[in-house]
Amino acid sequence: GTVAAAAPAAAPAAAATSAGGSLRQQLAAAFQMAIDTAFPAMAGEPAIVVACNQPKFGDYQCNNAMALHGKMKGKPDAPKAPRMVAEAILAQLPDTGMVSETSLAGPGFINIRLSKDFLADRLTNMLREGISSWAPRGFAGKRVIVDFSSPNVAKEMHVGHLRSTIIGDTIARALEFCGADVLRLNHIGDWGTQFGMLIQYMAEKRPGGLNAATDEDVADLQLLYRAAKARFDDEEEFKARAREAVTLLQGGNPEYQQAWQRICDASRREFQKIYNRLGVTLTERGESFYNPMLKPVVDDLMERGVAEESEGAKCVFVEGAQIPLIVQKSDGGFGYASTDMAAVKHRIHEEKADWIIYVTDMGQATHFDLVFAGAKKAGYFPEGRTVRIDHVGFGLVLGDDGKKFRSRSGDVVRLVELLDEAKSRIVTTVKERRPDASEEEIEEASMAMGYGAVKYADLKNHRTTNYKFSYDDMLSMNGNTAVYQLYAHARITSIVRKSGRDMDELVQTARVRLGHEKEVALALHIARFSEAVEDMLDDLLPHRITEYLYDLSTVFNQFYTECQVVGSPEEESRLLLCEATARTMRACFHLLGIHVPKCR
Ligand code: ARG
Repeated sequence: GTVAAAAPAAAPAAAATSAGGSLRQQLAAAFQMAIDTAFPAMAGEPAIVVACNQPKFGDYQCNNAMALHGKMKGKPDAPKAPRMVAEAILAQLPDTGMVSETSLAGPGFINIRLSKDFLADRLTNMLREGISSWAPRGFAGKRVIVDFSSPNVAKEMHVGHLRSTIIGDTIARALEFCGADVLRLNHIGDWGTQFGMLIQYMAEKRPGGLNAATDEDVADLQLLYRAAKARFDDEEEFKARAREAVTLLQGGNPEYQQAWQRICDASRREFQKIYNRLGVTLTERGESFYNPMLKPVVDDLMERGVAEESEGAKCVFVEGAQIPLIVQKSDGGFGYASTDMAAVKHRIHEEKADWIIYVTDMGQATHFDLVFAGAKKAGYFPEGRTVRIDHVGFGLVLGDDGKKFRSRSGDVVRLVELLDEAKSRIVTTVKERRPDASEEEIEEASMAMGYGAVKYADLKNHRTTNYKFSYDDMLSMNGNTAVYQLYAHARITSIVRKSGRDMDELVQTARVRLGHEKEVALALHIARFSEAVEDMLDDLLPHRITEYLYDLSTVFNQFYTECQVVGSPEEESRLLLCEATARTMRACFHLLGIHVPKCR
């Protein structure tokens, strides 16, 4: 959930006259002017413009009349009925060239039909200026921290971390597309008592010296973890020595520090294999980074009475929560929550974040609710500056049996293997489709489709639902899959290529013209790309992009079935429509982190 001084993601557009922003934002700006002029006493009442739910009546609708009527009731000169409010707004609507027709419906809805010429120009301009000219407004220059992926050192990175990596990367990409200043943080679990156990185990296995010669001991971290854990659980004396090791490590013992570093490096190499395959970049800033801040943070919270002692632990009690946020355990140790409190503070005050986004499974929702409420109670949210903070929770990945996704042997699935399996399963299809392709081309296409399929299958679900992992479904050529989308895109680019026209030249010299209803429908859907991005950032639901993309393919198919492109009198404009579709699809792929293989 969203907590704290939350502001709507999409700031109301400023002036109708200035370019930029989505169609919806631009229309809202025009209606804003109309409302402010028609009802100066109500100025500042935000314009509500949304896509029309009945396309036969309009493309968009303005829904302000009813609420405005209610608010003005009883005041002198108040309009008698919502419809009169709507008429007064329409009378003041500035001429932006966007609207061809308006009508009133129901109690006072204003239906808006866009001008075809305006739409056509919008697409023509996008082709000339690039799709980034369509980035929704309100995000440029915003400092946003996306905390995602965040696996734990010396433990297996599991499908939950994969989801976090995929979803977090998409959110970061959308923000970057909108010009935000994004810091992609990998909050890895690189600190904690488990390191005492690991290092002690390593030390006793290597009487010759803890850090002698090779890295053999950390070559398989899972093995190391399991062996150390077994010993820790079975042997009381080892347990005691492991605790001692934690003290040594945290006290800065150089030998133990070096061993810790070796474990972290080995983990990092493993994580990097995943990030390389997925094409994801992250800045590592693990839990250890905040270690020096923990004591001062807790001391400060105690001094100011934000935290209090309870059963030996130091806790922040927040209203409405069943359990407190434990910032220091009764044994004096700091835990996960302590680190997250220090991290929020650091991110707001040192990193000057305007928005902080945490991407983890839903199981951590309570934890983040507590941290956000605790941070609020601690006064970490500054006065006079709006900081938005969100936990982006997601559901589980399930196996065919509907249970937690596991490998055949019942172990955690190794992510490298999972990704490579998806890739190798698509090789045959790629070869069949392009018998003349070179080794390199097959490799590139298989990676794009295999890894892209995994991402797409994850992103297309509403993120809070659990979904079944199925290679067959995600690699299918039909339906809502990355493979289908990539082939649909390839088909459109081949229409353009086979026309023999020089596209770069055409973009500069020709214009989009809209006549046929399917042309208009396609143009409108293309132009709504910005709104899909806006919506996705509003509620941080990536499936808004896959859904948009899927609809785009469908609308394109309807256009292509009814409208001849090459050889028709409208050839130039229709080729531009194909080109605009392909570019918009690529923009979606970009946001989804799906690589588009080169094709000939
Ligand atoms: N390492 C944690 C885990 O594997 C996720 C960390 C998420 N980020 C945070 N700031 N707590 O569950």
